[in-house]
Amino acid sequence: MSFTSTAQAPAHSAALGTDPQWWRQAAVYQIYPRSFADADANGIGDLRGITSRVQYLQDLGIDAVWLSPFYPSALADGGYDVDDYRDVDPKIGTLEDFDAMIEALHRAGIRLIVDIVPNHTSDRHEWFLEALASPKGSAARDRYIFRDGTGPGGDQPPSDWTSIFGGPAWTRITEPDGSPGQWFLHSFAKEQPDLNWHNREVHEDFLHTLRFWSDRGVDGFRVDVAHGLSKDLPANLPSQAELDATPKDGSHPIWDRDEVHEIYREWRGVFNEYDPPKIGVAEAWVDSSRRPKYASAEGLGQAFNFDLLEASFDAEQFRETVTFNLELAAQSGSSSTWVLSNHDVVRHATRYGLPPKADGEDKAGTHWLLSGGSSPELQAEEGLRRARAATLFELALPGSAYLYQGEELGLHEVAEISDSDRQDPTFFRSPGFSVGRDGCRVPLPWSSTGAAFGFGDGAAHLPQPEWFADFSVEAQDGAADSTLSLYRRALQLRRELQGADTLEWVELPGAGSDVLAFSRPGGWVCVTNFGKSAVALPAGEVLVSSQPLSTGELPAETTVWLRQH
Ligand code: NOJ
Repeated sequence: MSFTSTAQAPAHSAALGTDPQWWRQAAVYQIYPRSFADADANGIGDLRGITSRVQYLQDLGIDAVWLSPFYPSALADGGYDVDDYRDVDPKIGTLEDFDAMIEALHRAGIRLIVDIVPNHTSDRHEWFLEALASPKGSAARDRYIFRDGTGPGGDQPPSDWTSIFGGPAWTRITEPDGSPGQWFLHSFAKEQPDLNWHNREVHEDFLHTLRFWSDRGVDGFRVDVAHGLSKDLPANLPSQAELDATPKDGSHPIWDRDEVHEIYREWRGVFNEYDPPKIGVAEAWVDSSRRPKYASAEGLGQAFNFDLLEASFDAEQFRETVTFNLELAAQSGSSSTWVLSNHDVVRHATRYGLPPKADGEDKAGTHWLLSGGSSPELQAEEGLRRARAATLFELALPGSAYLYQGEELGLHEVAEISDSDRQDPTFFRSPGFSVGRDGCRVPLPWSSTGAAFGFGDGAAHLPQPEWFADFSVEAQDGAADSTLSLYRRALQLRRELQGADTLEWVELPGAGSDVLAFSRPGGWVCVTNFGKSAVALPAGEVLVSSQPLSTGELPAETTVWLRQH
């Protein structure tokens, strides 16, 4: 095993402290870099933009940033189509900008987790270009998943599989001699060819990438599609219907195969070369019972839990979700993660303002991938009110909270995006099914007036609606009841109150089934009223509440934190 020079931490990381378990209860803020802050006026957010906003992040009170892909990319999938894993997209900066950004974050006591995308490269990655230029059966093709077509002349794809984004999962290439050729697998867009993790070179290259960023000081990695890397495709491919009917119990040909954990054991070896060890967090859409393996100390260490994000605003659902996930976390020895919003889903202020999911609707289906910002049924105020209550509930839970840029402003999903402005491949690949995820990726409003609401001097790469003026940082800064002030207060308290990562449910006499309360070590309690009418406010010193409190009452759809002596 090779030990790197990072045992000696650079001076600027002194503000980070030395606790190797820093991640267990961290508040992690996701930055979608192309939509955060644009320093060079090209309409696309950049690394210097992030550096210029470190003070904002510090004032917000987060412990770490998770940075979505910033690598060179044609943006066929918002950067999740990576051309080069060891560089920065020239549209958003340079490696020197990256170093300056990480130094500024570390000086502010904020750690940095970067996104890594190992299931697929982009179709502009040098390996894929080499595969296209090389013959069938070559070593270059073996890094990906190529198959001959079926039917006369191999004109039909190897199977009828559909990609996650809609449309076929196989695309045909043209061979170097100009003839129609083999087909390659892409679980997502056709610009994202899947890698072949049976190929040793693929392993070695990712180990190299992990060390490359670790040596540059990153504190951990968010692993994209962590459950998809290991595939075992038989010679006779099953049909899509057969695939769908195959249980995902570790032996499915594509998803969540048991041997994927061998990859993460290798990665853990790299993480542990550093002091403190790097962390990993898996994006693994797997059956909950299989999540602990991704989160184990021999593996990535943490795994996203999207159960709260998928729950309705409902006391019983929240309670069950929390109890179940704390048990899962105990199984893996990790802490639980909590997520209400990210760059893939409709913002939670909007979700909670839309009609409840119809019976039988797929959890990953249209409801929450559907942009609903200005749909007539949206109850915008109610949605935000519930979102504030849910966030305060989330921030009181033991474990780490992953927040998404803009949720601290109470932003709604932006629905006012014309088809010609849309960027997300899910929109183009699933016509009529989903408008895609652009609505939660619109550049942030920093000011209420001016070019691009202070995002930058160029026109923002996705159009910002007029109502952003009222949600801007400028409009909310210092306003006692603003959502930004609520997040700042809650995050500050969260640090001050932080104890062991446990909770106890509290039954409040006469409170009714819409009220959920739990206590945390150190004598404080979080109480949420999910119901439509006010209830009596329990005794205690009010630390923070998601709505203004009138004497003696906990209003409808409100959370409060109380210190009880
Ligand atoms: C999950 C990412 O969060 C999403 O944005 C992306 O489109 C897919 N993985 C494919 O990389």
